[in-house]
Amino acid sequence: MSASSPSSQTAAVILAAGKGTRMRSDLPKVLHPVAGVPMIHHVVAAARACGAERLVAVLSPGLTQVAESLPGVAVAVQDPPRGTGHAVAAALSLLEGQTGGVLILFGDTPLIEAETLRRLRAALDEPNVAVAVLGFRPAEAGAYGRLVLDEEGGLAAIVEAAEASEAQLAISLCNAGVMAIRAGYLATLVGAIDDTNAKGEFYLTDVVAIARLRGLSVAVVEGAADEVLGVNSRIELAEAEAILQARLRTRHMAAGVTFEDPGSVRLCLDTELGQDVTVAPHVVFGPKARIAAGVRINAFSHIEGATVETGAIVGPFARLRPGAVVGRNAHVGNFVELKNAVLGEGAKANHLTYLGDASVGAGANIGAGTITCNYDGFNKSRTEIGEGAFIGSNTALVAPVTVGAGAIVGAGSVVVEAVAADALYLERAKPVQKPGWAARFRAAMRKAKGKE
Ligand code: UD1
Ligand code: MG
Repeated sequence: MSASSPSSQTAAVILAAGKGTRMRSDLPKVLHPVAGVPMIHHVVAAARACGAERLVAVLSPGLTQVAESLPGVAVAVQDPPRGTGHAVAAALSLLEGQTGGVLILFGDTPLIEAETLRRLRAALDEPNVAVAVLGFRPAEAGAYGRLVLDEEGGLAAIVEAAEASEAQLAISLCNAGVMAIRAGYLATLVGAIDDTNAKGEFYLTDVVAIARLRGLSVAVVEGAADEVLGVNSRIELAEAEAILQARLRTRHMAAGVTFEDPGSVRLCLDTELGQDVTVAPHVVFGPKARIAAGVRINAFSHIEGATVETGAIVGPFARLRPGAVVGRNAHVGNFVELKNAVLGEGAKANHLTYLGDASVGAGANIGAGTITCNYDGFNKSRTEIGEGAFIGSNTALVAPVTVGAGAIVGAGSVVVEAVAADALYLERAKPVQKPGWAARFRAAMRKAKGKE
């Protein structure tokens, strides 16, 4: 069957209209980040990766912040929230004409993997299967819906914990919440859900029994418990973060990255680490860090929005901020900060330096304590340093300013004008030295204090 044939099409509905009160936050729950990316974005990415072409998020009114953060995702509003079945019903008008399968996902379940969604979606390809449910076996079944099987091992119904009998509560196979429903049956099945239950809500889970009553089959696909963790509180947010960090580390190590102390490194979903990168303990990667092959990142470095080219050495205690580019074989040492600054191939800034809005040519040497003075309180200005230039320690470069290739700037200078290529720029007050003065001063002071 070709990818464009109708029955292979996939849509995804992401439910996120719940209030999220247990987060105790002004930020909508599904925008809380996990590995640097809002939770709902993980879900959108997984849906896209498993082939969903059409995406609908179900939100409560007023969550414009969420809608704006989701380009390419249609938004259905559910008002008021009356249950997961009611939420899916709110999305129906945006799914008109849909064929194939519809995945129902939760915005607060960020760890779900595309491969699992693919297996769930594939279960709909079996004859007569109208609904496929993702089941899992949690350590404690608690409040999860229970999957009740019939004599043939098929799924008879999902029973919410609130309505379950003692015997049903003992079932260990639970509802992850994720479902796939054949598009042709979606409106009929969801339309048949009612709210006659303990919570007075429209339970999406009722579609299972409804489908069975109509002679349709329901499949169960089992997934891993750590993929379906629902985040309802900051505690669960931290659990999700820990699971995802471990998953990301494993992925990088399998691709040839060494972490000297894996558990102490913090990654983002989009962190790119090339083969033979070594990451020392306590390194933090913020969003959009790209580290090329063979780079060494030393301990306690903080890297965000930055690119580090092959063979470079960064840290310990380096800070690379957005727009920083560390060239091939360049060195960035301790207490050096780069922001919107390019350090050319083989250039060195090894100690106590701030390079902001700057470009440094290949092979240049930036002495300890060099500062680009890029901000005058109103404007940001650039500093350009040529290839092979040597900037002496404790130099202040008052931007906008340029230092030509091969120039030498003497230690302690304040550079306020363009320095020509190969020139020496030096700013020195005439030194004063008085032989024996210090010893005479101390003797006089002791005498005055009566110590002699
Ligand atoms: C749901 C399932 C339960 C399953 C569990 C897995 C139902 C009836 N129950 O229960 O079987 O074991 O998930 O975590 O589906 N939402 C809306 N609108 C609403 C209600 C919820 O958009 O009116 C959204 C929420 O924002 C959330 C998701 O749907 O993303 C799940 O809602 P939640 O209230 O957490 O369902 P559970 O009670 O956990
Ligand atoms: Mg829940």
